Parts: sequence; C-alpha cells; structure tokens
Amino acid sequence: MNNSTFNAHEYFQKIYARPVILEAKNLSQMFKHGKTERTILNQIDLKIHKREFICVIGPSGCGKSTFSRIIAGLDAYSSGELLVDGEKITGPSPERGMVFQGYTLFPWKTVKENVMFGPLMKGASQMSAEASAREWINIIGLEKYENQYPHQLSGGMKQRVAIARALVNEPKILLMDEPFGALDPHTRQKMQKHLMDLWENIDITIIFVTHDMDEAILLADRIVALKANPGEIKEIIEVDLPRPRNIELMQTKEFKRLKSHVDQLVHAQDDEIDPALEDLPKIPRMTQISSER
Ligand SMILES: Nc1ncnc2c1ncn2[C@@H]1O[C@H](COP(=O)(O)OP(=O)(O)OP(=O)(O)O)[C@@H](O)[C@H]1O
Ligand SMILES: [Mg+2]
Repeated sequence: MNNSTFNAHEYFQKIYARPVILEAKNLSQMFKHGKTERTILNQIDLKIHKREFICVIGPSGCGKSTFSRIIAGLDAYSSGELLVDGEKITGPSPERGMVFQGYTLFPWKTVKENVMFGPLMKGASQMSAEASAREWINIIGLEKYENQYPHQLSGGMKQRVAIARALVNEPKILLMDEPFGALDPHTRQKMQKHLMDLWENIDITIIFVTHDMDEAILLADRIVALKANPGEIKEIIEVDLPRPRNIELMQTKEFKRLKSHVDQLVHAQDDEIDPALEDLPKIPRMTQISSER
C-alpha cells in the first residue's frame, strides 16, 4: 500500500468488521494505599479487534501497567468485565504472550532453552519444542546466539528473545509494556521496524504500552490515550497513516499533525497527575558540597 492507494476510512471499516478479541466493559481497578482506597482504572470500556495494533499511552501513574497486568491475568480486577474471545480472563495463559521491560528471561537457560520453555510446558516433545524454538530464533535473526545465555546478549537481543519466547506459543494477543524503553534510539527504531514486519506477517493482535508518542503513532492502528487519577480513556485516536510504515514517515506533515494532537492530549493542563508524584520530597543536603552555586 502507498500513499496514493491508502484509504483510511476503508482500512478502519475493515478492522471494525473483524471479530472483537478483547473487550473491557466498565472495568475498574482499586488499590489500597494505607487506609484509603484509590481508583486507578475507572470504568474502562474498550473493544479491540482481531489483528489490530493498539498502543496505550498516558502520563506516568495513569494505570497503563496495571491495565497490561490485568489483561495478562497477573492481577485480578475490582469490578466490571474483561473478555478474551468472549471468555472471562481468570489468570495468565499462553494465548496472551507478554513482553515487559522488566520481564526477564531465565538466566540459567540458553536462548534456545528459553524459547523452548513454552512448548515444553504445553507438553510438546523435546524434538518438536526444539524445532519450534529454532523457527522463531531464525525469524528474530538470532540463530548464531541460540546457545548463548541471556547475560551474553545486548538489551535489544534479549527483547528479541523475549518476543520469540512469547510468539512460539502462538498467542492470540501479544502484550508489550514499554518493551523497548531501555534501548538506545537506533536499536529501538530497528526493533520497531522488526515488530511491524512480524505483525504484518502473523495472525496476532498487539497491545503495546509506551510513553513515546512517536513510537505510538508509528506502530498503532489506534492509540488509546489514558488520563491519570483516576485512569480513564480520554480519547481513542485512529492513526490514519498508510501501511506498511517506515521510520521516514515521522518526517511527514501528516505524522506531525497527529503528534501535535496526541501531545496536547497527553500533556493537557487539566489532567491530574499521579498523587505519588505530587509530593516528591525536597532533598536535604546530605554531604558537604565542594563548590557553592
Ligand atoms: N499492586 C499495587 N498496589 C497498590 N498500588 C498499585 C499497585 N500497582 C500499581 N499501583 C498504583 O497504581 C498507579 C498506576 O500504576 P501503573 O504502574 O499502572 O502506572 P503506569 O501508567 O504504568 O506508569 P508508568 O508510566 O510510570 O509506568 C500508581 O499510582 C501505583 O502506585
Ligand atoms: Mg508502567
């Protein structure tokens, strides 16, 4: 598809005609902080369609990770409903793969053994688990490293292994919470491109949490912008840019137009910030500082 043939209206009509794979209905999450109870996510209503690429953005503390953990089945929620393919989420499942920033690989397993873990847990034979692992290790381009241990890999490589380890289970949904947050800008761009290529070529729905607006616009079909305290959906933005996309798209005026819109949404003055950030303490002078300012 190129600029002249891309019809955004048609593109989104096709997406909305696909089955809903994840549905949040009036979903809320409360947490106890001391004696008080705080609403972190408030009445989230959202429908995500099969094969959509959704990015979730919002200020720190608005509940992005809380939302990801609930979808992953790692945390229970306080009220409302959350359905995958019409079924209530009751716990983690390989059908929802996870790639989180701090979600580390098993350090005592090699790259291949890390990727084999899911199939073996599902009862695959050693041989078939190894074959699936090899296939995914090839797709992420780490075949030369299959016998290395995580500490021998760079951050970008580790995240590629984490992606392979999730995708080998053929999940319906891939959940990514700031997966590229710790990478340098160049590696990050390469990973974004690689992820878009993967998504174009496999049957998967991606829910990707990020702080980075450029990243969200580059990757997403739709961006779910959350506001903080309590976390609520502020707006859902259709990214009407042609696909396949590449990094050069960021220089276009269409991209910049979207960015200024998203920027205004995320940094709007009327948003309350996470109370945890409101009372940052004043740092006392702890040592004798040599030169006065
Ligand atoms: N298990 C928990 N118990 C109590 N409070 C929690 C828990 N998990 C998260 N919170 C609170 O929920 C709020 C949202 O946290 P969350 O990690 O979801 O934010 P976030 O949007 O991912 O922020 P960031 O962009 O900094 O990663 C924070 O105020 C946090 O203190
Ligand atoms: Mg977070």
